[in-house]
Amino acid sequence: MSETRLRVAVTRRIFPELIDALRARYDVRDNQDDLPLSADELARRLGDADGALVTGGDRIDAPLLAACPRLKVVSNIAVGFNNIDLTACTEHGVAATNTPDVLNEATADHAWALLLAAARRLGEAERWLRAGRWKRWEFEALMGVELFGKTLGIVGLGRIGRAIARRAAGFSMRVLYHNRTRLAPELEGGAEYRTLDALLAEADHVIVVVPYSAATHHLIGARELALMKPTAVLVNIARGGVVDDAALIAALRAGRLFAAGLDVFENEPALDPGFLALENAVLSPHIASSTRETRAAMAQLAIRNLEDVLAGRRPPALLNPEVWERRRA
Ligand code: GLV
Repeated sequence: MSETRLRVAVTRRIFPELIDALRARYDVRDNQDDLPLSADELARRLGDADGALVTGGDRIDAPLLAACPRLKVVSNIAVGFNNIDLTACTEHGVAATNTPDVLNEATADHAWALLLAAARRLGEAERWLRAGRWKRWEFEALMGVELFGKTLGIVGLGRIGRAIARRAAGFSMRVLYHNRTRLAPELEGGAEYRTLDALLAEADHVIVVVPYSAATHHLIGARELALMKPTAVLVNIARGGVVDDAALIAALRAGRLFAAGLDVFENEPALDPGFLALENAVLSPHIASSTRETRAAMAQLAIRNLEDVLAGRRPPALLNPEVWERRRA
């Protein structure tokens, strides 16, 4: 009986109750240890699978796909998919899917949490207080920068960027945005288009939320940071590599930027130790979408994507639609 069931590999620990429900329909192999998998281990676990639930840390590339002849779907439990070689997936007839939209609000909240925390020096203030340094009230203690009434620059006005922009209204902020291509007015929601350089120079604070690719590698480097105001906060909730971390550390250290709020890093989780020594960097460990509701919605959408493909239905969040016409029988 079990030999006839389709096989599903799950690369990391995700809500056990959802995975247990999958066991009723598939032969499921999960990763109870929850340790990140090496390329060899990934190939071993996906080698005889029909479908895989993977996360952003799993590299899905041509050598892996060549070692997985039965694979029909790679369902990424993330909206970002720079871990997946889409061309290779299409060449191997493998549908790739992601989890858009369900994480927009939680991720936008986190961008604002980082912006507020960095602007008001919350991390530094808490470290100072916990260290027992609060001996008396001081008029000029730990002064921050304001958000209310200022200009917010959003680099990447997509689904999450628009959720970030909506929140700016509560702070009476004017919103500027930069995308590779200017949006239709109905999608701008009142945000004003700028070139990247103009946005960086004009915005009081900047949030970066573009997908990572070769085209966005080090989009914000030393030259771009130098264009920003010295009172500005830079928030990166996009992907490590969109910002040049070494250049950012140098700018923060020199006070050329007021502060940064960062959820993603180059080479994470082994981030540049230079960040740890900076009082004006608020750091979180890639958790922007991590609320119970949102992570559950992401897992459910990823499972729906996976099950649809395995049942021959077009999944709701297909990343390589061209595979659908010539998918495996
Ligand atoms: C998280 O980084 C995601 O891409 O969903």
